[in-house]
Amino acid sequence: MTTKKILCIGAGYVGGPTMAVIADRCPQYQITVVDLNEKRIAAWNSDELPIYEPGLEEVVARCRNRNLFYSTDIPKGIREADIIFVSVNTPTKTFGCGAGRAADLQYLEKTARAIVEYADEGKIVVEKSTLPVRTAQAMSRILHSNPKGLKFQIISNPEFLAEGTAINDLENPDRVLIGGMETPEGQRAIEEVVAIYANWVPRERIITTNLWSSELTKLVSNALLAQRVSSVNSISALCEKTEANINEVTAAAGRDSRIGAKFLKASIGFGGSCFKKDILNLVYLCGYYGLPEVAEYWEQVVRMNDYQARRFVGNMLAAMFNTVADKKIAILGFAFKANTGDTRESPAIAVCCQLLEEHARLRIHDPKALGNARLDLEDAEGDISYCEDPYDAVKGAHAIALLTEWDSFRKLDFRRIYDLMEKPAFLFDGRNLLDHRKLYEIGFNVYPIGQKALTHF
Ligand code: NAD
Ligand code: UDX
Repeated sequence: MTTKKILCIGAGYVGGPTMAVIADRCPQYQITVVDLNEKRIAAWNSDELPIYEPGLEEVVARCRNRNLFYSTDIPKGIREADIIFVSVNTPTKTFGCGAGRAADLQYLEKTARAIVEYADEGKIVVEKSTLPVRTAQAMSRILHSNPKGLKFQIISNPEFLAEGTAINDLENPDRVLIGGMETPEGQRAIEEVVAIYANWVPRERIITTNLWSSELTKLVSNALLAQRVSSVNSISALCEKTEANINEVTAAAGRDSRIGAKFLKASIGFGGSCFKKDILNLVYLCGYYGLPEVAEYWEQVVRMNDYQARRFVGNMLAAMFNTVADKKIAILGFAFKANTGDTRESPAIAVCCQLLEEHARLRIHDPKALGNARLDLEDAEGDISYCEDPYDAVKGAHAIALLTEWDSFRKLDFRRIYDLMEKPAFLFDGRNLLDHRKLYEIGFNVYPIGQKALTHF
């Protein structure tokens, strides 16, 4: 049997880890990951991988140069592949028609055109990127514009991994979704992709659907998850007014098996490269298909999220005598969630920018995201320092704003931190991570999310 060759175009947060796990679990396939970005490919080939993801290094070390290769030679990769996964970025459009909502599909289209240019036989092309429903139709038109008359099969196989837990999510997925055309050729292509995952995923977890259901399911899954966070965050505002406690409310509500306990943590808001972009894309699609009420319904999830970050800064100001001008504020955590260095759409960006507008002086610490934080705040005006050591960040600070739920923050010596700070010392826990009673007893004025503040005034 000849070795099947898989190519993945796009060596990012999805393409990188996904292909590493496929290579690990399917030694009979040869996998190449290509990207236009030479630096990124060089990093994948080095000891310093371009992204931080727990467990990733070990998987890459097992497979690299065995059946997993990283390269910038896109034409060769396309020519040799039997199956091509497309995992390029699909950000929100920033210009022209649909700016601020629609997905920018230029990278996807360039990839499709590269396939047309370099392929000299028909192939299975798998949409791994998150895409607007019916993108496969456009993909098919571009691919079938090839002058050689080659036949391609388009498959939708959206990725559900979450950053920080990507390897576990890939190794033990709740489900794998594979959509294809309802023709005999389409069904055969579905089976080819099913055969890859069946190497480690139980068959009953591999769901097959038509193309459009698969494309839309990805947007819907992210919209439903983000909606839970916005719903809980909206209630956290009401809790702060009524002395109800959001943790008690969500724990009790989540015990209803129809609701479920997961994804009900109040926070400063959701971040990450997916939720906002995918809901806005859904909003755009609803508008495009003439469904303005549906569009407005989902848009509110994003509005509530922006409100939550603004509300957090508003609470800081109100607590600190309505001014933070010239006050040092220690920012603990900048990544959009724990266990990643990714800061894309992190709520920390909005919080820091609003504090800078109030002329606060920021001392930012994050265990993995300082490099990205620097880039995010490159154009922000004001007094900002980046601290490798959390104790440097809190020195002389009037307040701490905890913005990411890094476990290491639980283990900090808060007595020492209290001594290093200006008094009265304020702590705003944007993730409800810490032991608030203990902090209060040390002397802090503690402001959690959706819970009564513990203050010495
Ligand atoms: P990313 O920006 O980290 O990676 C995309 C890569 O594609 C980049 O390295 C870029 O250089 C490369 N690229 C762009 N155009 C190219 C071209 N024409 N030829 C070759 N390479 C090209 O993006 P990501 O976070 O990996 O996301 C990729 C897709 O997966 C998006 O559609 C995203 O919505 C989706 N997704 C992301 C996540 C996540 O957690 N990040 C989870 C599920 C799905
Ligand atoms: C998300 C989806 O979970 C994943 O399935 C999809 O493939 C990509 O988008 P990701 O953005 O990596 O994954 O992280 P996720 O764990 O979903 O968290 C998103 C944001 O919501 C983070 O900022 C997180 O802190 C926040 N969040 C999550 C909450 O505020 N409360 C919660 O209860 C859960």
